[in-house]
Amino acid sequence: MNIDNQLIVIKTPKNNKFLAVIDIDKEFTTNEGKFKFSQIKNIPSIVETSTGVNFKIYKPSYKEFVLLMKRGPQIIYPKDVAQIVLESNIHNSSKVLEIGSGSGALTLYLYTILKNTGVLYSLDSSKINQRRADKTISRYISTLSDETNNITFINQELVNFEYKTLNVDLDAIITDVPEPWEFFNNNKIKNSVCWVSYLPSMTQVMRMNDALKEQLFQDIEIKEVILRDWVVDEKIVRPSNKLVSHTGFLISAKYIKY
Ligand SMILES: C[S@@+](CC[C@H](N)C(=O)[O-])C[C@H]1O[C@@H](n2cnc3c(N)ncnc32)[C@H](O)[C@@H]1O
Repeated sequence: MNIDNQLIVIKTPKNNKFLAVIDIDKEFTTNEGKFKFSQIKNIPSIVETSTGVNFKIYKPSYKEFVLLMKRGPQIIYPKDVAQIVLESNIHNSSKVLEIGSGSGALTLYLYTILKNTGVLYSLDSSKINQRRADKTISRYISTLSDETNNITFINQELVNFEYKTLNVDLDAIITDVPEPWEFFNNNKIKNSVCWVSYLPSMTQVMRMNDALKEQLFQDIEIKEVILRDWVVDEKIVRPSNKLVSHTGFLISAKYIKY
């Protein structure tokens, strides 16, 4: 197995996790010990460090990857990504427009659903962020076999964007930008579509609510995903004291072309 350049998680006995790309000429150092990447013969496997402890080596899941990766703009947390996928009603052949590529955390999950059978456009006004999002996808899909990145990145300010230029009837529009209602400056929805906006503040949600009503969207829903992990051990069964408090609100709606 050629393991050079593979993306891995390194898990220490104290349950610390690190994301790394294997470089067989180098070593990996933590304060729990170090090892040479050349010691890794397979993924998954276990390697012994200089201090005699075992590190576990394996491929990251989506959740581990996005929580451990270096980020630029704030990512959408996995708990919210899951709900967004549900509310946008997407499946593997959906045609989706994402507005706000950012660090690519949501883009990556959408990619894992749509792959080569669906269509994914990702719009952002920042070239730097789009390069970062593109890198996020490329790094992660190197862990999957036979995958190609077929996302179309659109580098544009939302306020200038005309979606008719895509020449496609979108199934879902998902936004993570501060002013998603700017979409309607140049665009009128003409086919049935699901809309989901992720917004940190309720004032933004209220503005978006007005915009969706004005554009004759129906079934507008506003929600917040509150997730509580539990610790279950021999003597301890209680909610975890690490609670992610507020991330963002979701506002979703459907436009139905009768
Ligand atoms: C918070 S980030 C998105 C993070 C992304 N959803 C993720 O999970 O990694 C917001 C992104 O929207 C972009 N953005 C903000 N306002 C915009 C606008 N008016 N038009 C286009 N892109 C915009 C920013 O450049 C930034 O990259």
